[in-house]
Amino acid sequence: MFTILTGAQFGDEGKGKVVDLLAENYDIVVRFQGGDNAGHTVKVQDRTYKLHLIPSGVLFGKRLLIGPGVVCNPKVLWEEIESLRKEGLDVDIGIDPKTSIIMPYHIELDSLREKARSEKIGTTKRGIGYAYIDKVAREEVQMGDLTDPARLQAKLDEIGPAREKAIADMGGDSSLVRSAPDIDEYLRIGQALKDSLTDVSLEINHALDQDLMVLAEGAQGAFLDVIHGTQKFVTSSFTTAGSACANLGVGPVRVDNVVGVIKAYITRVGEGPMPTELKDATGEYMREKGGEYGTTTGRARRCGWFDAVLGKKSAFLNGYTELALTKLDVLTGLETIRICVAYDLDGQALTYPPEDTGAFARCRPVYLEMKGWTEDITGVKSYQELPAAARAYAEKIEELMDTEITAVSVGPGREQTVFTPQEE
Ligand code: IMP
Repeated sequence: MFTILTGAQFGDEGKGKVVDLLAENYDIVVRFQGGDNAGHTVKVQDRTYKLHLIPSGVLFGKRLLIGPGVVCNPKVLWEEIESLRKEGLDVDIGIDPKTSIIMPYHIELDSLREKARSEKIGTTKRGIGYAYIDKVAREEVQMGDLTDPARLQAKLDEIGPAREKAIADMGGDSSLVRSAPDIDEYLRIGQALKDSLTDVSLEINHALDQDLMVLAEGAQGAFLDVIHGTQKFVTSSFTTAGSACANLGVGPVRVDNVVGVIKAYITRVGEGPMPTELKDATGEYMREKGGEYGTTTGRARRCGWFDAVLGKKSAFLNGYTELALTKLDVLTGLETIRICVAYDLDGQALTYPPEDTGAFARCRPVYLEMKGWTEDITGVKSYQELPAAARAYAEKIEELMDTEITAVSVGPGREQTVFTPQEE
C-alpha cells in the first residue's frame, strides 16, 4: 500500500505526530521534498523529539528513506542520526545518491539574498532555495559526490567560480565555496553514509511489489508549494501530493491513499498573505495555547481562524482521500469559533482563492460562526466523547472540504488521538 501524507495549509499542521501514529503500520517511511527548513515535533510519553530531515517514522524503528527530491544538509542529517542513536533508537536509513546537497555557500547566498530583498519572504535561511536553483541548473553537488573526494573536487572546480562570484557580488564571504574544513566534514559524513546510499525509487517499487506498506511524508504545506502556493511567499519545492510520485519515481496509479493534515485553526510562519490572521487576543491565545513557535527557527507563528476557502483548494491540489484534524484542543474555551467560508475581494464574493497573490492579499474573510465548547477534551478516548459543539465543528470542516476526517488529535501525545466512526 502506498500512502502520501501532506500538510493542507501553510506547514506546521502537526504532520510529525500523524506520521508517527501511522508509522506503526508501515514498513517504510520516506521524505520526498524540502530539507531541514522542515521541523517535525513528535511527543512520546515524556520525551519530545524534534526532527528536521529524518522521517518521523524513526520512533517505531521503521525503514527510513530520503528521496532524491530532498535537499540535504549532511551536517544536520548526521547530527540527527547520531542524537537518535544516542537515545538508543535504531536508525535504519537509506539515502538516494542523487539527493542534492545543501552546501555552505547555499546558506550564505540564501541569507545574503533575503537581507537584500526590499520585500522579505521570511526564509528559514537554510539554503533551501539556492540548493534547488542549483539542482535545476544541473550544477548541484549530490550525495554520491560526497563519497569520493576526487569527484567532489572536480565538481567544485567546475561549479565553484560562478558561486564565488555570486557571493562576492552580494558582499559575502566567497571563501566559503572551497572552505577546507567544511569540505572535509562533508566528505567524512559522505564516508559514514556510503553504505546507506540506495536507489529510493527502486526500493519503493520493489516494496510495493511485495505488498509492503510505504508512507510518503510531506514537509511544509500546500500553500508553500512553489507553483500552487502564495508566490512569492513560498518554499522552493513541490509540497502537494502529486510531487511524491514525481520526486520518488513511483507511478501515480500505485497511490492508494492521500492523507491531508489540517490544523483546527491556521498558522503561517514567514511573510505572505493570510486572510484569516488574527492580530488580537484570540490570535495570541491560539499561539500560546498551541505553542505556535517554529521548530526550526523559533519564530512566533501567525495564527488565525480556519480558512475553508483555502481548505477547498487544498483538497483539489492534493486529492485527499481522508483528513486528520489536529490541535482541536487548542480551541477549547473560545465562546465562538469562526470558519472562513468566503472572501470579499474588492466587493466581490469568492468561494475559491484567486490565483494572483496580490488579489489574494486583498481578500477579506467572510465568516460562519459556530458555538465553542469549554470541556477539557485532552483526555477523551473516543470521537463520541467529544462535546457536541466540537464534533459539529469538525463535521463542518469535513463538509466544507468535501473530505472525510478520520482522525482528530486532542493533544501532543500519541494516545491523544480519536478516530471517527467508520461505516463497515
Ligand atoms: P524556505 O523554505 O527557507 O526558503 O522559506 C520560504 C518560506 O517557507 C518562508 O515563509 C518559511 O517560513 C516557510 N517555510 C519553510 N519551511 C517551513 C515549514 O516547515 N513550516 C512552515 N513554514 C515553512
